[in-house]
Amino acid sequence: MLKDEILKILLEQEGFLSGQEISAALRVSRTAVWKGVAALRKEGYEILAVNHRGYFLENKEKFLSAEQIQKALEEQGLFFDVIYERQVDSTNRLAKSLAEERLPGDFVFLAAADTQTKGRGRRGRDWSSPAGESISMSLCFRPKISPELAPCLTLLAALAMGEAIEEAYSIPIGIKWPNDLVLHGKKICGILTEMSADLDGIRYVVCGLGVNVNIVEFPEELSQTATSLFLETGKRVARSQIIGA
Ligand code: BTN
Repeated sequence: MLKDEILKILLEQEGFLSGQEISAALRVSRTAVWKGVAALRKEGYEILAVNHRGYFLENKEKFLSAEQIQKALEEQGLFFDVIYERQVDSTNRLAKSLAEERLPGDFVFLAAADTQTKGRGRRGRDWSSPAGESISMSLCFRPKISPELAPCLTLLAALAMGEAIEEAYSIPIGIKWPNDLVLHGKKICGILTEMSADLDGIRYVVCGLGVNVNIVEFPEELSQTATSLFLETGKRVARSQIIGA
């Protein structure tokens, strides 16, 4: 969709970009650009329009994109596919359906979303992933280990995410083994690892992590047990940085 193309350009641009430049890059009319910008604003994107300068997307760190995530991964020396959707039902579900399409080939990819409409937690529970404020990511890969060792991957994921957060915020993170990360006694990250296996062994594993990054408020029923990195530290970190780390 045109508005998504416009958003991508604005996210990549550090300064202002004129309507003329956007319309030339996307080969559409200035009116189409104007309409696309209006649609993005309706969705909550704060796009400044200044005479003789053009458009500028404010608070870029609030937004995620495949490019940002890819860049953050590459900075860590990691080169694999990133599939990013603004909204999905569940990144674990998306990853599983993509894995089925890619079999029998070998693969490692990351499915991530800004928000999930049916985020899944353990034991059939729901998982809430507020737009612009949380991480919903599912790493999908084909480990060459026997299925009974798969639970270790959850432990590895907890350690990896714990370290990533400690690095970004310089705070010690606790692991409530095996699935939760906690800060000041409250949950900040949950992990749901799912596996597909047959008689030959593991077909693929999906390791899904949900992180409460910049959430400012929790519903009453969750506020006693869950918190966010922002609420505990007062620091806002770009979600792509944590995903990459
Ligand atoms: C839990 O604590 O119960 C586990 C929560 C796991 C949530 C993540 S968010 C990304 C991925 N997609 C899902 O639907 N669930 C996991």
